Amino acid sequence: MSTRIVSPGVRKVTQLGNPVLRKVLRKLKADEVRSEEIMRLVETMAVTMDEYDGVGIAGNQVGEDLSVFVMGLPKDTKRHPEGIALTVVFNPVIKFIGDETEEDWEGCLSVPELRGMVRRHSKLELSGLGLDGKAFKKIYEGFPARVVQHETDHLNGLVYLDRMDGLKTLSYMSEMGRRG
Ligand code: NI
Repeated sequence: MSTRIVSPGVRKVTQLGNPVLRKVLRKLKADEVRSEEIMRLVETMAVTMDEYDGVGIAGNQVGEDLSVFVMGLPKDTKRHPEGIALTVVFNPVIKFIGDETEEDWEGCLSVPELRGMVRRHSKLELSGLGLDGKAFKKIYEGFPARVVQHETDHLNGLVYLDRMDGLKTLSYMSEMGRRG
């Protein structure tokens, strides 16, 4: 019996079981990226991510078959005081740097209430198209690198459950004694 008020522009996030979450999403051309329609979509994604208190959101999580993700986290949150600058990436490609990996909890707006431990690469180079339609490359480490891997997986039809080393750590947040 949720009475939550959904802000204008917010879309309902697709949930696990929706076939769009298992699709390899369509890449965009540079001139498409700069279109009015795509700018509106990116805004919708950012507003939806914010509404759901997410750190990242992928095209298929708002029901679109388009290879794009948005990520961002304000500074000074308890777990990640460094924050993540609001970033939009089209057609992301990851190149891992080094062999170092690290484990941490992950959750997903499409798999609500749950958390699981996922091993991810610690450092990577992300390439893709930015909001201006131009190619860019950027190096990420630690938590932001984890978010980049999680969101890029979405665009290839994967969720974090697929990356877990077994399901033994899968937990309801309510039983973990903490939220976020
Ligand atoms: Ni997710």
